[in-house]
Amino acid sequence: MGMPQPSFYIFKCEQSAPPQMPGKPSCVTEETQDLFQFMAMTLMQKGLIGNVIPVKTACLNRCNAGPLMLVEPGHTMYAGLTKDKIVKIIDEHIIGGNIVEEYLIDEELWDKAVSPADMIKQMAQ
Ligand code: FES
Repeated sequence: MGMPQPSFYIFKCEQSAPPQMPGKPSCVTEETQDLFQFMAMTLMQKGLIGNVIPVKTACLNRCNAGPLMLVEPGHTMYAGLTKDKIVKIIDEHIIGGNIVEEYLIDEELWDKAVSPADMIKQMAQ
C-alpha cells in the first residue's frame, strides 16, 4: 500500500492590507493574526496534521467577508472566521464530514464557478 493522499487541504487567506491603507479590507489584522497558527495547532492536537494540510495563501478575492478559509476538496468557503468557528469546522466538517452551513460565505459572493473553457469562449465574444 502506498502513502495515502491527504484527505483535506485548508487554504487560509493570510493577506493583510498595508498599514497606510487602513480602510482596505484584510483577512489578517491585529485581532486575527494568529488564526492560521491556531488552526494548525488545533489540527496537530487532534492528530490530523499530514492527513489534513493547512496552507497559507494570498488574497482569495473575497476580502470583505474575511477572515476566510477554503476547504478542498469540496470548494467550501468559510467566512468571518474566529477561533471558535475554526474548532467547529474541524470537528464537524473535517472530522464529521458535515459542512457547517452557518459559517459559509454568503451565496452572493460564492456563485457557481465558470469553467476555464467557458471563460475563454466569453472573452472571445
Ligand atoms: S485579503 Fe483575504 S480574501 Fe482578500
